[in-house]
Amino acid sequence: MKGHCEHISPQWWRVLLLFFHNGSYRFKLICGMFLVLSSLWLASRASLIMGWHYDPNEPKLQGARYRYTVLLNTWKRDDLLKQSVAHYSSCKSVDAIRVVWSEVEPPSDNLQSILSASVFSRSRNLQHIPEFRVDLNEDDNLNNRFKPIEGLETEAVFSIDDDVIVPCKTLEFAFSVWLSAPDSMVGFVPRMHWTDSKPPSYTYGGWWSVWWTGTYSMVLTKAAFFHKKYLDLYTYHLPPLVREYVRSERNCEDIAMSFLVANATSAPPFWVKGRIYEIGSTGLSSLTGHNHRRTHCLNYFSSIFGRMPLVASNVKVVTAHREWFW
Ligand SMILES: *[C@@H]1O[C@H](CO)[C@@H](O)[C@H](O)[C@H]1NC(C)=O
Repeated sequence: MKGHCEHISPQWWRVLLLFFHNGSYRFKLICGMFLVLSSLWLASRASLIMGWHYDPNEPKLQGARYRYTVLLNTWKRDDLLKQSVAHYSSCKSVDAIRVVWSEVEPPSDNLQSILSASVFSRSRNLQHIPEFRVDLNEDDNLNNRFKPIEGLETEAVFSIDDDVIVPCKTLEFAFSVWLSAPDSMVGFVPRMHWTDSKPPSYTYGGWWSVWWTGTYSMVLTKAAFFHKKYLDLYTYHLPPLVREYVRSERNCEDIAMSFLVANATSAPPFWVKGRIYEIGSTGLSSLTGHNHRRTHCLNYFSSIFGRMPLVASNVKVVTAHREWFW
């Protein structure tokens, strides 16, 4: 009966015996499980015992390079805007929150002061309270969301819709992925362009096809990191026909950005594992005919570019922090 369990204290012997007195096989199984669990527990404490400690606040990791700007696109949804500004104010490496406002009426003074106050009260980084600004655009043009913004201090931009909440921990992890690949887009919502049998035509692949195949070639700008240089490229170097299409059709600005980055890097984006939350009611993508319009964008944009720049990938980035098995 004793075997490998000799170090268990007598009280535990008694408890275990009480429950498993009629089966030594089951008892051994329990012993084994106990050993496995205690070694896992020990392993999780190993960094403390072994002195494997890393200080993420080392001086060299400070400064604007290690922070990002949240570029928040909103449209006529003040309640959602309040929620997301409050949330992103509480994330550690946020340098600034810039709201892209695309309405004739500027935000009311009341709304402005509620937003500024929540940035101040929710910020957890007292050495660096995020700067907060609303950038006004009088026209309702979807291209506004990628306009270069004045006074941008960081290289990293996190582009987000007002109805999407990414938990701070998930966001910080994705940011660390972006730091390793600052020319790439790094995001949470992957999509695919499927090639049809009769070229040159493409079909937009939504969530189901990406989930089923594990293949993607875009990450949507409703929740993605990219370098601020792409704001300039989008506004001043994207073919005018593409921008005109985005403006008139009020759609596909994210596909246009994916084309732009893929054309510049000849590489796929990065899909980061992480749960994100949609706080508004049903979004655009649930409307019927949405994928049809997205398919049209893929084909139209690739005809303007003269080729299909998107590159497919099967890489999904996960944090190794809790991944025990290689
Ligand atoms: C695609 O990239 C090439 C090489 O960097 C560049 O010359 C070209 O202008 C880009 N095309 C578009 C449509 O942006």
